[in-house]
Amino acid sequence: MEIVLKVNGVERRVDTDPDTPLLWVIRESLSLTGTKFGCGIGACGACTVHVNGTAVRSCSVAAVTVQNQAITTIEGLATVAGPAGGLQLHAVQAAWVAQQVPQCGYCQSGMIMAVVALLQQIPAPTDAQIDAQVTNICRCGTYERVRRAIHSLSSQPSAAEESGRLS
Ligand code: FES
Ligand code: FES
Repeated sequence: MEIVLKVNGVERRVDTDPDTPLLWVIRESLSLTGTKFGCGIGACGACTVHVNGTAVRSCSVAAVTVQNQAITTIEGLATVAGPAGGLQLHAVQAAWVAQQVPQCGYCQSGMIMAVVALLQQIPAPTDAQIDAQVTNICRCGTYERVRRAIHSLSSQPSAAEESGRLS
């Protein structure tokens, strides 16, 4: 069947089975491979994207159920800036670079998407709020650096405002 998805502001038409998870449509039909497969059962968060600004585990959502809703993947976070068309990182991505958060990097797309959604709700979260809402699993154990990067953003009011532009 043909479905219509709005991904990173662009309308995309895709032929897929009714029960195909959003993750596989994003990765295989749309070739947006920044969103990762980890567990496939909604447990690890590697596949996290936004649907209407809310963090969603795309392995556990049928693509057909999110037609015509605003889907954002990691590829949609940075914005094109300047006459040369260079990419300007989202504030959360910039904080990840500054704080050297990733190790192997595999989980980090989903981690960043979860954090952007968290900061939309809670601009200056405590460690307890981070732990409660960002339940993504990182096998490299970058949790402390994730917290540090989030707190570095919390001290910059503009970072939370930038997260708000994705809603
Ligand atoms: S692959 Fe979706 S939660 Fe693990
Ligand atoms: S950075 Fe390696 S799994 Fe998280």
